[in-house]
Amino acid sequence: MKELMQSLREASLKAITEAQDMDLLETLRVKYLGKKGELTAILRQMGQLSAQERPAMGQLANQLRSDIENAIEARKTELSAALLEKKLRDEALDVSLPGEKQPIGHKHPMYNVLDQIKDIFIGMGFEIVDGPEVELADYNFTKLNIDEGHPSREWTDTFYFTEDSSILLRTQTSPMQIHAMETRELPIRIIAPGRVYRKDEVDATHSPMFHQIEGMVIDKGVTMSDLKATLNLVVEKIYGKGTVTRFRPHHFPFTEPSCEMDIQCHKCGGKGCPTCKGEGWIEVLGAGMVHPKVLAGCGIDPDVYSGWAFGMGLERLAMGEYKITDLRLIFENDVRFLEQF
Ligand code: DAH
Repeated sequence: MKELMQSLREASLKAITEAQDMDLLETLRVKYLGKKGELTAILRQMGQLSAQERPAMGQLANQLRSDIENAIEARKTELSAALLEKKLRDEALDVSLPGEKQPIGHKHPMYNVLDQIKDIFIGMGFEIVDGPEVELADYNFTKLNIDEGHPSREWTDTFYFTEDSSILLRTQTSPMQIHAMETRELPIRIIAPGRVYRKDEVDATHSPMFHQIEGMVIDKGVTMSDLKATLNLVVEKIYGKGTVTRFRPHHFPFTEPSCEMDIQCHKCGGKGCPTCKGEGWIEVLGAGMVHPKVLAGCGIDPDVYSGWAFGMGLERLAMGEYKITDLRLIFENDVRFLEQF
């Protein structure tokens, strides 16, 4: 029996020291120490020993059991240290490697111009308001004093949703004047930027969708000189001090009097060049004093209150500021174009 235990000792300790993973160690533990294991099998034979032999053999067997257990524990510690070492090596991060560059986008050039204009008007106490692009013909036309027969109401010019021409894609931001007057407390100082839609073929200066900025002031004692002073100030902030403007008489159904504002070409100083198409002047916006009929239609007494309004094209402004010669470039969103700004 002593020899049996000696050979078990040698075989087991050798196998344990050579075991390469945790699973194998567990298998060995069962093989040697388990209920059906080799040491247990030897102990079963103790019954055949004499009473004098038994204590010494029992002691040997206990010693062997604890030696095997210790050997397994020791090997386990070795293996897990090696495992950790390997894991650390495998997951090592080389911080000296150059990073992968992440392309970061930026604001569209037209929205830079819009933000600039918003800032200027916010600085003068205006609020920025937003409204529907799907609009009632009542707001887009009728309440703005644009009669049934007006050419801009034709199906060839405007996108309608209904056979009776009552719902449409707004053709201008001017209906925001009506929304503001119907819902806001007086006095009113707003700008309303947004998309507008017209049945135009796409070319270098036209698009069926483009952007306008509407502006309006309603208060007591507001006059045309307030309109001119405010717009002159805005133009100076955009195009620089001393920019010359001119106000030409025009006609819009919802303003009386109405005008268009031009700026003297900032490229040639008014002499005439390709930027101003030889004119010396560049048209910037339409404006005027809000028509008494429009005020009254929104429940505002034109004998007490007056106001001015303007509408300008945002694309045209951005094209002027960034010297963009084709409107399509603004909407195509080709990054080779956008990255230049
Ligand atoms: N809505 C006009 C257009 O699209 C522009 C305009 C002209 C707006 C005069 C105004 C204004 O507010 O007073 O052509």
